[in-house]
Amino acid sequence: MSRIQFGLCGAVAFTCFAAAVLWAAPVDDGLKIPNFDHWYLVNSMLVTKETPRSAAAGLHLIYINERGLERLKTGGAAPYPDGTMFVDDVRDTSEVDGAYLQGSRKVVPLMVKDAKKYALTGGWGFQAYGGGDPQKPIVTDAEKQCFACHAPEKMRDSTFSTYLR
Ligand code: HEC
Repeated sequence: MSRIQFGLCGAVAFTCFAAAVLWAAPVDDGLKIPNFDHWYLVNSMLVTKETPRSAAAGLHLIYINERGLERLKTGGAAPYPDGTMFVDDVRDTSEVDGAYLQGSRKVVPLMVKDAKKYALTGGWGFQAYGGGDPQKPIVTDAEKQCFACHAPEKMRDSTFSTYLR
């Protein structure tokens, strides 16, 4: 085989290999954990162990991305635009002399709006990551584990947070 022929074969083989890798990659359902370091912190809630709610105990810090911010400020029941994402950064807390200190990540639940793709759950895709670890998704049934509790909040498009000034 001449050098030129070999080069060609190599290039073709590599292209096929690269394409196979791309095809084998998991479908992106838009529910990956985003980098929300510089999103808008729009709400917070401290849930203690005494809560009768089933919400995870800890400090809940609610972030929204740029896409949904204006809609959150407006309020009301109008649907959020597709691409809106909410992240709930749930932190452990420790009490020291009556002060609650923020600790490490317990879980990171998130919601992404795609009215068509997630039509069965109010247009929202739900996922949650244990410890904020992208390898530890914990939602297998969004309807039961998440939407059942969010659905009654129709007056805010199935979300709880309001914009606090
Ligand atoms: C028992 C009720 C309940 C269940 C079940 C529930 N949530 Fe929530 N969720 C809440 C409440 C109450 C808030 C607002 C307070 C907070 O957490 O800070 C909230 C807030 C959120 C927010 C911030 C946006 C908003 O609505 O204000 C996200 C994101 C979220 N939840 C995702 C999830 C995911 C993902 C699941 C499933 C793993 C889930 N939730 C299950 C009650 C629930």
